[in-house]
Amino acid sequence: MEKKKVKIAIIGAGKVGATLAMRVVEDNLGEVFLLDINKDLAQGKVLDLRDSLATLNYGGKINYCKDYSEVEDSDIVVLTAGFPRQAGMSREDLLIKNKEIIQSIIPRIKKYSPKAIIIVVTNPLDVLTYFVYKLSKVSRQRIMGMSGVLDSGRFSALIAEEVGVSRQNIQAMVLGMHGDLMLPLVRYSTIYGVPLRQLLSQKRIEELTKKVRSRGAEIISYLASSAYYAPSAAIFLMLKAIINDEKRVLVASVYLDGEYNLKDVCLGVPVKLGRDGVEEIIELKLNKEEKRLLQKSAEKVRDGIRKLNI
Ligand code: APR
Repeated sequence: MEKKKVKIAIIGAGKVGATLAMRVVEDNLGEVFLLDINKDLAQGKVLDLRDSLATLNYGGKINYCKDYSEVEDSDIVVLTAGFPRQAGMSREDLLIKNKEIIQSIIPRIKKYSPKAIIIVVTNPLDVLTYFVYKLSKVSRQRIMGMSGVLDSGRFSALIAEEVGVSRQNIQAMVLGMHGDLMLPLVRYSTIYGVPLRQLLSQKRIEELTKKVRSRGAEIISYLASSAYYAPSAAIFLMLKAIINDEKRVLVASVYLDGEYNLKDVCLGVPVKLGRDGVEEIIELKLNKEEKRLLQKSAEKVRDGIRKLNI
């Protein structure tokens, strides 16, 4: 993949998709193609973004598309199309509606961009990442869901605030499903290399892990719609890792085939991201309790997978 010619298709020009488009094009990470079922929305956002590039004197390129043929030969496709959560909803509540949307999109991606790496953002994330993997029938290296980068970022923000140190000193990791059974890995989370447990009491840590699990819902309670700045930042980090072949270790939802003793399910685990997508699944040594919680998380994703009826 040549750096300057990377073609990034963003399907869904809503809050997450358009904010991501802005991040990508301002960074000139690749050429962006924005597509939405609401064609006017994609066009309006792109025209506005082009004006913003001209105003800032930036050079990035962004296009609106009215048909999937225009996103032919994309290197990376980001799927943000679908309904977002509203107050009182769980991510799982979106399953049936968003399944239909994904089902209508994947055959077109397969037709026009059969070699693309696909990043799934639509919720319920792990279940739909599994669905995309099964529908697209491409190598599991090329399908990943954006979950853990966001949840780990949220955990970092909360730890930094609690301890009163710079966010840049925090290394936090959240595995498992993107939802209430996510697994903030306290043992592997550090402040400038110092394990969290040495700096915070068990009670404060428990409060933080509870907070990170409900951070998305907390934001919805204020916005009356779901978050998009942090989600788009998380996708942007994954895109950068792939496009720049960084071999960066990040948490993503991937199809597991025996790793972590889990099979035939998608779940957030640390992976190495580079030019070929998921270049390695990294297996951490988990203790008994962490393994139990990861299994529990997988069970919840499997409940959703059963509802896909595939
Ligand atoms: N094809 C293309 N675009 C579609 C389709 C489709 N079949 N169906 C819906 N869309 C578009 C909508 O027109 C809308 O512009 O998807 C966009 C979704 O944008 P928002 O409603 O603003 O939702 P957003 O907050 O961006 O979240 C998108 O990401 O984080 C997840 O839970 C979230 O599933 C949701 C997705």
